[in-house]
Amino acid sequence: MRTDQAVIDRAVALLQAGELVVFPTETVYGVGADAANPAAVGRIFTAKGRPADHPLIVHLPGDGGLDRWARDIPTRAWELAEAFWPGPLTLILKRAPAVPAIVTGGQDTVGVRVPAHPLALALLRAYAEAGGGVDGLCGIAAPSANRFGRISPTEAAHVRAELGDAVQLILDGGRCPVGIESTIVDLTRGDNQAPRLLRPGRVTPEQIAAVIGVLPEIVTRPADDGTPRVSGSLAAHYAPTTPLRFVMQPDLAGLIDELRQTGRRCALLHHSQLPNASALHAGLRLPADPQGYARALYAALRELDQMAADIILVEEIPAAPAWAAIADRLHRAACGAGLATNDRASTTQVRP
Ligand code: TXA
Ligand code: MG
Repeated sequence: MRTDQAVIDRAVALLQAGELVVFPTETVYGVGADAANPAAVGRIFTAKGRPADHPLIVHLPGDGGLDRWARDIPTRAWELAEAFWPGPLTLILKRAPAVPAIVTGGQDTVGVRVPAHPLALALLRAYAEAGGGVDGLCGIAAPSANRFGRISPTEAAHVRAELGDAVQLILDGGRCPVGIESTIVDLTRGDNQAPRLLRPGRVTPEQIAAVIGVLPEIVTRPADDGTPRVSGSLAAHYAPTTPLRFVMQPDLAGLIDELRQTGRRCALLHHSQLPNASALHAGLRLPADPQGYARALYAALRELDQMAADIILVEEIPAAPAWAAIADRLHRAACGAGLATNDRASTTQVRP
């Protein structure tokens, strides 16, 4: 999809004026503001309805400006940046003093990444060339461009449905090629202890180990102090409004029949061939490989959520490591599905 220079120029002008700009990344769409401008970053929280203590990722045009944002950067961070940037990997590092507290949710760490999408890179580079930011501190803070707790957008139309008039400009880059959010690795413990994997994504722990020689420790729960260090680590997140339930493939046909007999409209997300599709209210079949599945997942959940079904059934996905990031998103979606936003974080029960 072509975006001409005039649109990039307009986006740069809006960022300089402290306004919000939505841009595509290779993972999901982000809603961005000048990360050095606290008032502008504040608008992101308002637009998303996001709690103020949830830190944002700062997007950079390259690793050149990294030491403006972070201090005591361990060797491993440079190695990972070299190997995976631009790309779907976020590094958590110690925050440099100049970074506004609103960006980091008041924490002394900062999340940074260089996205691989050509439009995101064009915007980031143009913003740097235009002298964006403050005293050389130039980056775009951007969370996923959805309302808090909802499904991340992977197409421009999703962003319009989520944020509507709350954003000034949406750069349309078509469907995001990765489809789920970046892998997040916490390197703040330095080079002598294993890094921590805070959110699984396309970049796997094995790929990280191949670069730095050590497997990241997998963190499954939010930090002990109760600070929501990774909002995607709340039990309930990425959620549709229709209740969602996993079903093993052999049980699908029977359950669908059973639900139909009780008059319930059943939508199905599946990846293998289905025997009785006619009993379904709606069904979407995703590719059976993890990368194809991830790319299509959020758009499919959104579509099924709009079908006025009583329940979304999800065919259980393979337990293999290559599916780990997808399993993570689907399980959080199941925890939050069918609940009002305020009820989510405390609820884990899902019933048909
Ligand atoms: O793929 C992505 O990472 C997308 C695109 C737009 O870049 N962004 C994204 O942002 O998913 P968001 O805000 O929806 O999720 C970022 C996660 C949040 O859960 C946040 O808590 C965590 O990153 N995070 C950011 N800074 C952090 C920090 N200093 N320490 C721990 N977690 C942090
Ligand atoms: Mg998000």
